[in-house]
Amino acid sequence: MELAVQNLKKIYGTHTVLDIGKLMLPSGRITAIVGPNGAGKSTLLSILAGLLEADNGQVFYDGQEEIPRERMTMVFQEPYLISSTVEKNIAWPLKIRKIPGQEISRRVKGLAGELGLVPLLKRRVRGLSLGEVQKTALARALSFDPEMLFLDEPCASIDPSATLEIERLLAKRKEESGTTIVIVTHDLAQARRLADQVVLLHRGKVLESGEAEKFFSSPDREETRKFTEGGLLI
Ligand SMILES: Nc1ncnc2c1ncn2[C@@H]1O[C@H](COP(=O)(O)OP(=O)(O)OP(=O)(O)O)[C@@H](O)[C@H]1O
Ligand SMILES: [Mg+2]
Repeated sequence: MELAVQNLKKIYGTHTVLDIGKLMLPSGRITAIVGPNGAGKSTLLSILAGLLEADNGQVFYDGQEEIPRERMTMVFQEPYLISSTVEKNIAWPLKIRKIPGQEISRRVKGLAGELGLVPLLKRRVRGLSLGEVQKTALARALSFDPEMLFLDEPCASIDPSATLEIERLLAKRKEESGTTIVIVTHDLAQARRLADQVVLLHRGKVLESGEAEKFFSSPDREETRKFTEGGLLI
């Protein structure tokens, strides 16, 4: 699903936290949103995911203004799980879509296998580590095969080997299902490994956006180079 943003603004009190004239997120690709703390990354993601209203401007989903809620989902940095087992959480979106039980088990097993969650399936979510919670939330988000997936720092509490597992899974989803993925990350190395396109936000504005390769190797702006080399944006 292609996303197009036009004249988007979000204002809290007198503070304009988002002010984006034009931004395109291509269909079937992985876009990383990067930028310093408070840049507006989570705010932008929530608006794109249809969970927060903008004060001005539009988001178009394949050219339409109507939000296709059934076809997309978001994973929060601190996900909310239902008070039940890991298995029931992953199965939840399939249950509400009335998918047959056998198909639910097949998909839950498949995802649990890919994310190393098999030993945890019968565990209740209370007491899971934050990394295990994030993986469960990711499996739940993927279980109904969304066309579009929004991820806010999905690997923040995840160790390096599980992070690679998750990146592999996301890349595979993109290749095999054409899923459009938007990921907020602080980890520039992750953006480099995973993203086709990168958007750099700073103080609510897009400083630069474009093909990942160019973004990292020969950005248009000096600030972008500074940021990708670990410098601070002021
Ligand atoms: N509900 C709110 N009320 C007032 N200000 C808010 C609200 N939500 C966000 N903000 C402000 O908007 C700005 C952008 O916040 P946002 O959470 O989008 O940043 P971020 O780029 O995701 O930061 P981080 O890297 O720390 O997660 C911040 O200055 C934040 O304090
Ligand atoms: Mg954030």
